[in-house]
Amino acid sequence: MTAEPLTLRQALLESRIRLSSCSDSPAIDAEWLWSHALRRSRVWLMAHSEWLLTPAEQARGESLVSRRQEGYSVAHLCGECEFLDFSVRLTPQVLVPRPETELLAEQALRGLPRRARILEWGTGSGVLALALALARPDCRILALDQSRTAIKLAQSNALRLRLTNIRFMQGDWRCRWPGSTFDLILANPPYVALHDPHLQSPGVCREPRHALVAPVRGTQAIRILAVKARRHVHRRTRLLLEHGADQGDVCRKIVERAGWGRSKTLADLPGLPRACLASH
Ligand SMILES: C[S@@+](CC[C@H](N)C(=O)[O-])C[C@H]1O[C@@H](n2cnc3c(N)ncnc32)[C@H](O)[C@@H]1O
Repeated sequence: MTAEPLTLRQALLESRIRLSSCSDSPAIDAEWLWSHALRRSRVWLMAHSEWLLTPAEQARGESLVSRRQEGYSVAHLCGECEFLDFSVRLTPQVLVPRPETELLAEQALRGLPRRARILEWGTGSGVLALALALARPDCRILALDQSRTAIKLAQSNALRLRLTNIRFMQGDWRCRWPGSTFDLILANPPYVALHDPHLQSPGVCREPRHALVAPVRGTQAIRILAVKARRHVHRRTRLLLEHGADQGDVCRKIVERAGWGRSKTLADLPGLPRACLASH
């Protein structure tokens, strides 16, 4: 006996119930996943709630919902996400860009001189470099990451957006930064401590550890960057680093100890300390 085909409305309702134990936004997640499975927009879904799913559509949608239950994020399952006013492709090898990282892009754009030279360390999917390159075609951006797959993905995201003012380079701590000085050095480095329970939460538990975790209670990457960046400063260079909501004080201390003159903590929209801005 073959099962009755489901309508889209039924599938969305069942998915919402299944996802309510693993997601804070089960209804929206269900819409994104079914929209991806059916290759239709979310608005189309709303207008076609009585659509009878074919067996192939039903299998695709249910498999996405099951993987969401296993802890994969919607962005990874759909293979894309939005950042500010553009969208990027994603793979499970890179971090899903977070809303708080949009703060970093906005801050980075403030007071950028004409034809600024910018270095973005740890570019991942490329969102920060892409945001700056889109907003300021006059600037030249160097985007680095140790992960070859991240660099390839970021490059292809730049290509899709037809950006030509970013140079991508694979390299880790040891790599020499080409360019003597930069006007802005920015990074969203790994800053989560090894045993932080947040690493077990849905979505995060399936993200690449090397993009999230840093030794020394999450501060090692910030320490190394603050020191390394000092070799590439001129009088007006700024350093901009994202950090954890409880790392505001420690991050300012680290950058000041590394020789940066003034530093201040910047808060995100909910008011949490999320970034450190330092100047020469
Ligand atoms: C928190 S993710 C940030 C990704 C992206 N910039 C964003 O904001 O969504 C940190 C990135 O740093 C890279 N990374 C970690 N350790 C590194 C190292 N030693 N050298 C270069 N890149 C590194 C990771 O591969 C990852 O892409």
